[in-house]
Amino acid sequence: MKIIITKNAQEMGKEGAKIFAEQIRSKPDSVLGLATGSTPIPCYQELARMHKEENLDFSKITTFNLDEYIGISESDANSYHYFMNNELFQHINVDLKNIHIPDGNAEDIDLFAKQYDEWIQFAGGIDIQLLGIGENGHIGFNEPAEELMTGTGRVQLAQSTINANARFFDIDEEVPKEAITMGMKTIMDAKKIVIMASGVKKHDVVKRLAGKEFLSTKMPVSLLFLHSDCTLIVDEAAYNG
Ligand code: GLP
Repeated sequence: MKIIITKNAQEMGKEGAKIFAEQIRSKPDSVLGLATGSTPIPCYQELARMHKEENLDFSKITTFNLDEYIGISESDANSYHYFMNNELFQHINVDLKNIHIPDGNAEDIDLFAKQYDEWIQFAGGIDIQLLGIGENGHIGFNEPAEELMTGTGRVQLAQSTINANARFFDIDEEVPKEAITMGMKTIMDAKKIVIMASGVKKHDVVKRLAGKEFLSTKMPVSLLFLHSDCTLIVDEAAYNG
C-alpha cells in the first residue's frame, strides 16, 4: 500500500482527484467506484473544478457507488443518492443513465445486491475505486466481524457507526440500522483503489495501517494490504494525531 501524506483535507482531495483525472484522461469510458461521507468531498470539489476549468470530460464515464442505507428514500437529504447529486453529479457532465447507486428501497434487497455485482461485471469491472474509512476500520459498510461478505449485500450497522451517523439525523430513531454495501470481493476486484482519511478521528486506524502490514476481519480496511494497486492518502492530522 502506497501512502501519501498531505498538509490538510483539501490537499488530500486534490491528490485523490489527480489520480482520478489521470484515469479518466487515459480511458474516457472508465468505470468509477464512488464513495460518500465527508472524506471524499474535497476530492469531488476538485474534480468539479477540473471539469469546469480544465475540460475534464465525464460524458463516457460509468459510476457505481459503494453503499446506501436501507429504508431511506432517494430524496431524503441523508440518502447517499442525494449526497452524490449534491456533491458531484450536478457539477459534472456525467450521463445520468450511467450512474448506479444501491437501492436501499428495493423490494428484494438480496436480489438487487446480486444484480448490482452483475452490472459491475457487465460494465467491465471497476477501473478505480474511491474509499473512505470508518473510525472502526470499516470500508463501504463492511463492519468489523468474524466473517465478512464477499459480494454486495445487506448488513447490520455497528453501534459505533450508528452513533457516528446520529449527528446527521434529527432524532435517534431515524438513524438507519441497516445498509446495502459492496462486499469485500466487489471492492477488491477494482483494478485500482484510492483510499483517503483526514482528521484526528481517523488517527488510530491510520496509525495501524501505517505501521506493519496485517490482515484482520476485525479491521476490514486491512484486507486492502492484499491489493496490488492501492494508494492511501491521509492528511497530517490523521497521520500524526
Ligand atoms: C460511512 C460510509 C463509508 C465512509 C464512512 C466514513 O460509514 N459508508 O463509506 O467511509 O462513513 O465517513 P466520513 O468520511 O464522513 O468520516
